[in-house]
Amino acid sequence: MFQRHMHQACLALLLGWMVLLESKDLSDTTPLVGPVGGEVTFQCLFDLGSSLEWFYIQRRYNFINGYHIKGIDPKEYTNRTEVNRTQGSVRMWDLQLSDKGMYECKMKYIGKDDILEMKINLTIIANNRVPNVTVTCVSSLCWVTCSYLGDYPHKEVQWSTFPHQNESQWKVNSSDEMDTAYQMYSLVSTVKINCSSMMKFNLSCGVGGAVSEQHTVCVALPDPTTHPLIVVSLVVVLFVICVICIAAFMIKKYRSLRHTNDMEKEEMPEREQLT
Ligand SMILES: *[C@@H]1O[C@H](CO)[C@@H](O)[C@H](O)[C@H]1NC(C)=O
Ligand SMILES: *[C@@H]1O[C@H](CO)[C@@H](O)[C@H](O)[C@H]1NC(C)=O
Ligand SMILES: *[C@@H]1O[C@H](CO)[C@@H](O)[C@H](O)[C@H]1NC(C)=O
Ligand SMILES: *[C@@H]1O[C@H](CO)[C@@H](O)[C@H](O)[C@H]1NC(C)=O
Ligand SMILES: *[C@@H]1O[C@H](CO)[C@@H](O)[C@H](O)[C@H]1NC(C)=O
Ligand SMILES: *[C@@H]1O[C@H](CO)[C@@H](O)[C@H](O)[C@H]1NC(C)=O
Ligand SMILES: *[C@@H]1O[C@H](CO)[C@@H](O)[C@H](O)[C@H]1NC(C)=O
Ligand SMILES: *[C@@H]1O[C@H](CO)[C@@H](O)[C@H](O)[C@H]1NC(C)=O
Repeated sequence: MFQRHMHQACLALLLGWMVLLESKDLSDTTPLVGPVGGEVTFQCLFDLGSSLEWFYIQRRYNFINGYHIKGIDPKEYTNRTEVNRTQGSVRMWDLQLSDKGMYECKMKYIGKDDILEMKINLTIIANNRVPNVTVTCVSSLCWVTCSYLGDYPHKEVQWSTFPHQNESQWKVNSSDEMDTAYQMYSLVSTVKINCSSMMKFNLSCGVGGAVSEQHTVCVALPDPTTHPLIVVSLVVVLFVICVICIAAFMIKKYRSLRHTNDMEKEEMPEREQLT
C-alpha cells in the first residue's frame, strides 16, 4: 500500500517535473479509454509538491469540472463528474459515445505565472455485450426477443436454430432506434413461433459476431387451462387413496379384533372343563 503510494507519488513528481521542463505545452496527447456506461479518470499531471491555485478539464472550451479556490460550477457535468483535488483528477462516469474526443487539462500553481496544459484523447468503446434474449411462451405460441445496444445502426439480428428449423413459418419483427440515454443504437428483434407443429429446439441470436447463449423453445408445456384441473384431480385421487387405505386398515383391525374375541370365547369353555 505504502509502496504503491510512493510509486504513484514518484511517478506524479517525475511527470510533473517533465511538464515543468517541457514548459507550457505538452504537445503529446495522453490516450484514455472507457466503455459505454462505464467511467474514466482524467489525470492532470502536476507537481504534487507545489500548491495548485487551480486546475480544470475542458473540452472544446466547454468547462467540464475542476478545482478553483474561488469555486466553479460544473453545470451540465455536475451529476457525472467528481473532482479529486489532492490527486489533480476528475472522474467521469456513465460514459456516452458522444463523450469521445480531445480534452484539455489546464492548471496553475500558486505563485507561478505559467498556465500548464495537457491533452487527453478519450476513446469510448462499445462494450461487446452479447445480445440479451428473453423467451415468453403461452400455450403453443412462443415469443423470443433479442435486444442489443450497439454503436452502429442497421446491424442485422441473425437468428440461428439448433437443430436447424424451417424458418419460413416464423414472424420476425425488428426495430432499430437510437437510445438517447447512451447515444447508441438499440436493436430489438422478436420472433413469434407457432410451436404446434414443432419439436423443441434451441435458438440463439447474433449481432455482428456477438452471439447470445442458446435458449430452448417449444418445450411441451402443460396447457395452462388444464393445469388447475390436473392439480384438482391429483388431490382427489390422493384423497381417495387415503380413504381406501384408512378403510382397509380399519377393516383389518376390526377383523383381527373379532378373531381374537372369537378365539377367547372358544377357549373359555375349554378352561372350565379343565378345572
Ligand atoms: C442532476 O441531478 C439532480 C438531482 O437528481 C437533478 O435535479 C438535476 O437536473 C441534474 N442536473 C443535470 C444537469 O442533469
Ligand atoms: C482523492 O484520491 C485519494 C487517493 O485515491 C483518496 O484517498 C481521496 O479520498 C480522494 N479524495 C476525494 C475528495 O475523493
Ligand atoms: C484519438 O484516439 C483515437 C483512437 O485511438 C484516434 O483514432 C484519433 O486519431 C485520436 N485523435 C487525436 C486528435 O489524436
Ligand atoms: C435482459 O433483459 C431482461 C428483461 O428486459 C432484463 O431483466 C435483464 O436484466 C437483461 N439482462 C442483461 C444481461 O442485460
Ligand atoms: C419450408 O416450408 C415451406 C412451406 O411450409 C416450404 O415451401 C419450403 O420448401 C420449406 N423449406 C425448407 C428448406 O424445408
Ligand atoms: C413490431 O414491433 C413494434 C414495436 O415493438 C410494434 O409497434 C409493431 O406493431 C410490431 N409490428 C408487428 C407487425 O407486429
Ligand atoms: C399454429 O399452427 C397450427 C397448424 O400448424 C394452426 O392450426 C394454429 O391455428 C396456429 N396457431 C396460431 C395461434 O397461429
Ligand atoms: C440446447 O440448449 C441446451 C442448454 O440451453 C443444451 O443443453 C442443449 O445441448 C442444446 N441442444 C442443442 C441441440 O444444441
